[in-house]
Amino acid sequence: MNSYEPAPADHFSFGIWTVGWQGVDVFGTAVRPPMPAERAVRKLAEIGAYGVNFHDNDVFGFDDTSLEREERIAAFRKALDETGLVVTTATTNLFGHPIFKEGGFTANDRDVRRFALAKVMRNLDLAAELGAKVYVCWGGRDGAESGASKDVRAALDRLKESFNILCAYVLDQGYRIRFAIEPKPNEPRGDILLPTAGHALAFINELEHPELVGINPEVGHEEMSGLNYAHAITQALWHGKLFHIDLNGQHGPRYDQDLRFGAGNARGAFWVVDALEAGGYDGPVHFDFKPPRTEDDEGVWVSAAACMRNYLILREKVRAFRSDPEVTEALRAARVPDLSLPTLAEGETWRDIRGFTPDIPALADRGMAFERLDQLALEYLYGVR
Ligand code: GCO
Ligand code: MN
Ligand code: MN
Repeated sequence: MNSYEPAPADHFSFGIWTVGWQGVDVFGTAVRPPMPAERAVRKLAEIGAYGVNFHDNDVFGFDDTSLEREERIAAFRKALDETGLVVTTATTNLFGHPIFKEGGFTANDRDVRRFALAKVMRNLDLAAELGAKVYVCWGGRDGAESGASKDVRAALDRLKESFNILCAYVLDQGYRIRFAIEPKPNEPRGDILLPTAGHALAFINELEHPELVGINPEVGHEEMSGLNYAHAITQALWHGKLFHIDLNGQHGPRYDQDLRFGAGNARGAFWVVDALEAGGYDGPVHFDFKPPRTEDDEGVWVSAAACMRNYLILREKVRAFRSDPEVTEALRAARVPDLSLPTLAEGETWRDIRGFTPDIPALADRGMAFERLDQLALEYLYGVR
């Protein structure tokens, strides 16, 4: 019997801000006390995590003096050293302080943009020192609520300029860090720029160093747009652009729920694990969720541990599904393996199929047997196979 215990080889990681979330939302104040980054590190290590991601201001305050900053970083580093937890990823808070109310990289005010870039560069130094390989950029405030307030073409120019500057910075400093853009359709802004994985992938092609920039899609963010997250990460892998993942749970298009992984769209989560198991992603299996406001400190760790446990449960189910001979047969009946055959044979050109006519009535009549195949998957998910 599988105990679903996380192992270091599973590479599970968490944002410091996830378990540290105090529950402040649009309608209510904090329900939990602040959690120092070093406590998050120690508790995450206890429950079996492998690594962490952090915003600059998860570790030290926006207004801290350099002495306070150094003290906070030293405590964080000590916890990392003592627990062996790895800093896989880092990121910048360009959304919390009022200076960013109108954006970071795309704020209309040039001084805000220059300050936002300086803040990222300073935290890139710390990220490099702590060994992070990926730097996430979530432009939560880069967007608008009204039409004329944002010149979208100019904003995209500034976004492009920002990534070009940051790529030049890591190259000049000799850092082995790549950037991962995190798309989100809305919240906190009415509309955020680069709203989906597809928008971000297209944007990367316009950069001076596209090889240094990939994406960090989040389950809930794609599902807020009604999109299929498993398809999003599979396409990102196909482009060689899945640099990081933010796993969590969401119930369809509504506010960003950030539920623990496996809650919300459970059927979608099964196919997410299947897509990751299919191979090609070798980054951390990262969770970006928020323990609900209803939970006390104990509930925080229950929900964090459940993210990993749900991943392991789903992984076991996915593996059983994929190795079931009845599934292999159902896949064959559904003609799924045929899609891997190139449409033209070796040496053929369009000339060879220009006049091709198959048995049209026979193909039109034939069922695809997808229901049997999907029912097998659901039965694994429902736990009866
Ligand atoms: C959200 C976002 C954030 C970012 C994180 C990195 O829930 O809207 O996912 O959690 O991932 O802040 O900057
Ligand atoms: Mn989110
Ligand atoms: Mn996220």
